[in-house]
Amino acid sequence: MVGSANLNIMMKAARRAGRALAKDFREVENLQVSMKGAGDFVSRADLNAEKIIKEDLMGARPTYGWLAEEGGAEEGQDPTRRWIVDPLDGTTNFLHGLPHWAVSIALEHKGQIVSGVVYDPNKDELFFAEKGTGAWMNEGRLRVSGRTKMIESVFSTGLPFGGRPDLPDTLKELGRVLPGCAGVRRWGSAALDLTYVAAGRYDGFWERRLNAWDIAAGLIILREAGGLAEPMDPNGNIVEDGTIVCANEALFAPLAKLVRG
Ligand code: IPD
Ligand code: CA
Ligand code: CA
Repeated sequence: MVGSANLNIMMKAARRAGRALAKDFREVENLQVSMKGAGDFVSRADLNAEKIIKEDLMGARPTYGWLAEEGGAEEGQDPTRRWIVDPLDGTTNFLHGLPHWAVSIALEHKGQIVSGVVYDPNKDELFFAEKGTGAWMNEGRLRVSGRTKMIESVFSTGLPFGGRPDLPDTLKELGRVLPGCAGVRRWGSAALDLTYVAAGRYDGFWERRLNAWDIAAGLIILREAGGLAEPMDPNGNIVEDGTIVCANEALFAPLAKLVRG
């Protein structure tokens, strides 16, 4: 697929940052003996990846705005366009030597996400989409799963950790979803969760308390692959609220009903 100039800039930046992170990831195992050492090292790897992405994106499009997990928000001369970046989604996995994390880059235009790239260097899987042109992984077109029965479906979600207040609600949701499906996974990268629904690997995904940079790129990839997505509050906004429930067309309504309770 021949993408726009912006998409090519995003893909190049994601690959460059991904390569730097993959190199640092190989060091992490040696640092596991000292948690503090590993934690500091991962923070530096994360910051370095964001620096690489910013150099590439802002170097090529200096007038665009910027929103990234580590460096925060910067308004651009062009108020209609903004990069939304998570240099490392799945930090806990990275820190623990678990090879499931990704670089996530989206472009927003007039409040709409118009392109997204999610790169998993561990599998060399580059997921990408632009509005109206479909979703892709490397050379292949993506399509959400064709499953129609909840009992045959596998979903993904995020679980609150470290004293987050929403554990009781999450346990209730799981109590409603688990008995009627084939399984629920918690793999620890919301960006990859969304692309896996786009690829038909999961049949759906839901999570609350996310940030714009966790969701923006994966959301357009999911939608361009034929997935349906809504915020938990149907009148809200996924990227602004940081909540999402998504699935293929057949499973969206039953999953959303169970999750919303
Ligand atoms: C996290 C991951 C995780 C989700 C967390 C996010 P990070 O992002 O996407 O799957 O459950 O809420 O914060 O911190 O690894 O960039
Ligand atoms: Ca994230
Ligand atoms: Ca992150």
